[in-house]
Amino acid sequence: REFGRFGPLIGAIDEGTSNVKFLVFAANTSEVLTYHQLPLRRFSPQEGWVEQDALEILAAVIECIEVTVDNLKKLDINPEDVVGIGITNQRETCIVWNSVTGQPLYSAIVWLDVRTSKIVDDLTKRKGVQCLNAVVQTSGLPLSTYFTSVKLKWLLENVIAVREAVRAGECMAGTVDSWLIWNLTGGCHGGIHATDVTNASRTQLMSLKSLQWDEGLLRFFDIPVEILPKIRSSAEIYGYIAKGSLLGVPICGCLGDQQAALVGQGCMNFGQVKCTFGTGCFLLYNTGDSIVHSDSGLLTTVAYKLGPNSPPVYALEGSVAIAGDTLRWLQEDLGILNDVGDSENQAAEVTDDEEGSICFVPAFNGLYSPYWRKDARGVMCGISSGTRREHIVRAALEAACQQTCAVADAMQASCAPLRRLLADGGMAQNSLLMQMQADLLGIPVIRPLMMESTALGAAIVAGRAMRVWPASTPTPPADTFLPSISAEERDIRRVRWEEALSRSLGWAKD
Ligand code: G3P
Repeated sequence: REFGRFGPLIGAIDEGTSNVKFLVFAANTSEVLTYHQLPLRRFSPQEGWVEQDALEILAAVIECIEVTVDNLKKLDINPEDVVGIGITNQRETCIVWNSVTGQPLYSAIVWLDVRTSKIVDDLTKRKGVQCLNAVVQTSGLPLSTYFTSVKLKWLLENVIAVREAVRAGECMAGTVDSWLIWNLTGGCHGGIHATDVTNASRTQLMSLKSLQWDEGLLRFFDIPVEILPKIRSSAEIYGYIAKGSLLGVPICGCLGDQQAALVGQGCMNFGQVKCTFGTGCFLLYNTGDSIVHSDSGLLTTVAYKLGPNSPPVYALEGSVAIAGDTLRWLQEDLGILNDVGDSENQAAEVTDDEEGSICFVPAFNGLYSPYWRKDARGVMCGISSGTRREHIVRAALEAACQQTCAVADAMQASCAPLRRLLADGGMAQNSLLMQMQADLLGIPVIRPLMMESTALGAAIVAGRAMRVWPASTPTPPADTFLPSISAEERDIRRVRWEEALSRSLGWAKD
């Protein structure tokens, strides 16, 4: 068919932990034509619990789509040129709902939530080492509060409405992608219950080899398979939008947000690495068709599968739970940062080695890669009367960089040393952070000018499914940050960080 001046368009729903966005890309040029963004609220009804409202997430997605379509019309672009939609989302977050009423049966339990700490301890004590090793071998993931498996187990054990819905055959469960696909394709009037291999690989219920729900894992966590979505590839038509301005447009791409950023950064070859600085901070290393297990605290995960008949590509992942979220905390909860966007200016007012500088380990709910210590809690070391709010902001930036360095070391131990790091995500707009990261890693850090890598990844897979996205695109323009400190200074700062880190371990005794 004939298209307007930008050719075929692809929409991308980017549902992160902190924001929802809908962006429209021109498939021929990867250019973002317009977008709309809304913030998402988080609730903490008890210490360590992190919840979101599943209906608010859905409403925000629908509003972003409608406003963006209006923007298209104002730009004199025909919304009918949108030929497909990709979804990318915060991973592991668990939603259960009633298939007949469409209503959520509980709040969305967010990936950061640690209410399942006791379940993790009980399983660790009760099951033998062989059994626990089998979980890691099959799923690629260690037992942790992070993954969907234990969140779903908690819901089945603790929420009567969930148990009743299971008994009645009316319970559906999934990660945020599944919740959105089901609702957008019709909900209780014929919605499709599906997920993609990347999101499924974060539930800890899928076998990395078969790419299907694994009987052994389902038995281990006691999860009934009938409540789970069907696992599909990352690039195929799952269903069609059933309502609103984009009625009838296929949803044809789906990736967990970190895997989407890997695709968006063009890391489609073995050995390519990206790091996304968002709420948390996540490094993914493309390991091609090999399932590489790490002894150094990294996760093994599916990177993407570009169609039902395409082979899966895998990745090693280092997940840092808290990165940009530290800045949010400094702004919203402590009030010592006017705006997250000011963090660069504030941090630039001080240096790392002057009187008052501190080391800050923001282990609010424990530490993920490569430490996996749920008993860690935040510490600030070295506070003196010379310490100002600017020192704390600067130390918050360094914390994300030092944890990224620890993950990079683990990657070197499991695969190969990193030669350069491709960075993206909201926090990566901070150029001081990028320079600090290059200094502390000792390798160049490259940040594309177009930083919506996550949404771009979702658009690429959707565009590939519809055969409108070019097979290769030129390398996008980028800023490069080169290391500027000596190896000796790097070591001094690393030792100081590790000293602070050791003090954060074991604070939360169970
Ligand atoms: O695994 C959690 C991750 O997907 C969340 O990403 O962008 O919300 O920090 P983000």
